[in-house]
Amino acid sequence: MRDLLRLLRYARRYWLYLLASVVLMACVGAAHGMIALLVGPIFDRVLNPASADAPVLLFTDPVFGHRVYLEDIVPASIHNVASMVACAILTIFLVKGLCDYLANYLVNFVGCSAVTDLRNTVFDKVLKQGAQFFEAHSTGRLMSSIMNDIEKIQVATSHILADLLRQSFVVLGLLFVILHKDWRLALVSLTVLPVVIVPTARIGRRIRRTSRRSQDNAAELNQILQETLSGHQVVKAFGAEAYESRRFRAAAHRLLKTNLRYVLQQAMSSPLIELFGALTIVGLLWYARNQIKVGSMTAGQFTSFVIALLMMYEPVKRLTGIHNIFEQAIGASQKVFEYLEHIEEIRDHPSAAPLERFEQGIVFEDVSFRYPSVSNGYQLRNVTLSVKAGEVVALVGPSGAGKTTLVNLVPRFYDVSSGRLCIDGRDIREFQLASLRDKIGIVAQDTFLFNDTVANNIAYGRPDVPPEAIRTAAQTALAEEFIQQLPEGYQTLIGERGVKLSGGQRQRLAIARALLKNAPILILDEATSHLDTESEMLVQKALANLMAGRTVIVVAHRLSTIRRAHKIVVLESGRICEIGTHEELVNRGGVYQRLHELQFVEAGAVMDL
Ligand SMILES: Nc1ncnc2c1ncn2[C@@H]1O[C@H](COP(=O)(O)OP(=O)(O)O)[C@@H](O)[C@H]1O
Ligand SMILES: [Mg+2]
Repeated sequence: MRDLLRLLRYARRYWLYLLASVVLMACVGAAHGMIALLVGPIFDRVLNPASADAPVLLFTDPVFGHRVYLEDIVPASIHNVASMVACAILTIFLVKGLCDYLANYLVNFVGCSAVTDLRNTVFDKVLKQGAQFFEAHSTGRLMSSIMNDIEKIQVATSHILADLLRQSFVVLGLLFVILHKDWRLALVSLTVLPVVIVPTARIGRRIRRTSRRSQDNAAELNQILQETLSGHQVVKAFGAEAYESRRFRAAAHRLLKTNLRYVLQQAMSSPLIELFGALTIVGLLWYARNQIKVGSMTAGQFTSFVIALLMMYEPVKRLTGIHNIFEQAIGASQKVFEYLEHIEEIRDHPSAAPLERFEQGIVFEDVSFRYPSVSNGYQLRNVTLSVKAGEVVALVGPSGAGKTTLVNLVPRFYDVSSGRLCIDGRDIREFQLASLRDKIGIVAQDTFLFNDTVANNIAYGRPDVPPEAIRTAAQTALAEEFIQQLPEGYQTLIGERGVKLSGGQRQRLAIARALLKNAPILILDEATSHLDTESEMLVQKALANLMAGRTVIVVAHRLSTIRRAHKIVVLESGRICEIGTHEELVNRGGVYQRLHELQFVEAGAVMDL
């Protein structure tokens, strides 16, 4: 119930449209009642030439006792009963059709719009989540929720709204007719209703469980799909096609089984209702025969009653079906609401102030850090380090030492577990996140490029940067030359993740991006480690242009970069074990000397080749 209310909240903005469709649907309901009422005169008067020429009574208003005649609702110029009925039937169907059409459109408009709003909200919410959230939720699953689950909700809400309104009014209209014709008979006929509704509700609960499992299976399939498609090269390189195919088939089979179970459960409710309907009609026939014999009912009136009852079958079936669809929507909305409720781990403190300028420096004060998903041990321990404005600080250390972890704390991809990280003397958690990140440029080992033009990738997220600025950035990043050789220059699409570019070209685009952002603090995390020697030289030059005049923390593995640093920080197993300049550290006999010698040998080996 709570979930339904939450879903309906998204429809609240569209209440005017909803109101209009309620009115229109009420007309549809009334039209159904009128059709059932007209059956009486058709049998007793139109199809019975011996009938008297009296006015045709349709019904008596139950509140004021007005009698409503057919003559009241058709043009006065028509006097023949057959023409009057014909005219009334045509008019009623015309009005009903129009109202139904409009109301259906409006209701679906509300349903689709509300769900579009919901999807947008979920997307925004997911975007705001920190790294921790994405570690816990796989891309495939998130995509499945945002697309398929919300799609299910959309179908369901439009169905629920449309059917609930339409069928309720139709039932009301027809209920009026049968109660009016013979209220005792009506009440007796209606006693079968609970016999129908109780078992369908029970089936509904099972349907909800199956529906939820079906979403899970679909998400699983989605995840396999997403991984194998984006990792298609690895799949081929390891000849794992058959393995992936088996995995996919197994998941697809699970989905199939769940879906079939769902169909079975859903198909169970209609035959159940039909059976009870048939029983009722058989009973009614027997009763009516006696009533007509004693003259307390005409054949036309009885037909009108039975037709109204039969006409109720479809709406009642649909109303109980709504329950099933509703269960389905609730099943689908659970994950979606879970994402909506998830509180971002990294967010602005209520009293956060913007970081206007970066002037003095970055200071790690006894910082320890543990990844939230890791239960034992810290990935950073008691790190104390200061980076003065304008300095270049190099981080070196073996793989897994915590270098990436350390630099990722600066833009608050994660928050420190203990200690403080300060910029210009204030804890970075006191600054507004957007203003903090605005001051930091990052070039990492893997650059994420979007499947867009070169120009848009350089000016990512800033649609109104002038083309000259993009060109200047590209020139400074030494990317201009290769960009101009691309088929459409700056307007060339670079493919998913930039597959159409080489590693060195991708890095230079990333550098151009950082140049354009022009942030005072720069983080370079092994920006050249994927590259061959030649493109590395180009990228190194581009990096030198980028570093000019900025405060830089560089995770480096090449001596050339490290030599230029004001300070070298050696990390090992999450601890700082040495700090100093190249000259101070190179002969100290510590980790740095070892790394340095290793690299010297490696560089020599490359030279020999
Ligand atoms: N997202 C993560 N969740 C849990 N542990 C992580 C995560 N990222 C890195 N680690 C662990 O933290 C340690 C430091 O990793 P990292 O900072 O990437 O090292 P480096 O960049 O120095 O090679 C490693 O032991 C690694 O296994
Ligand atoms: Mg790293």
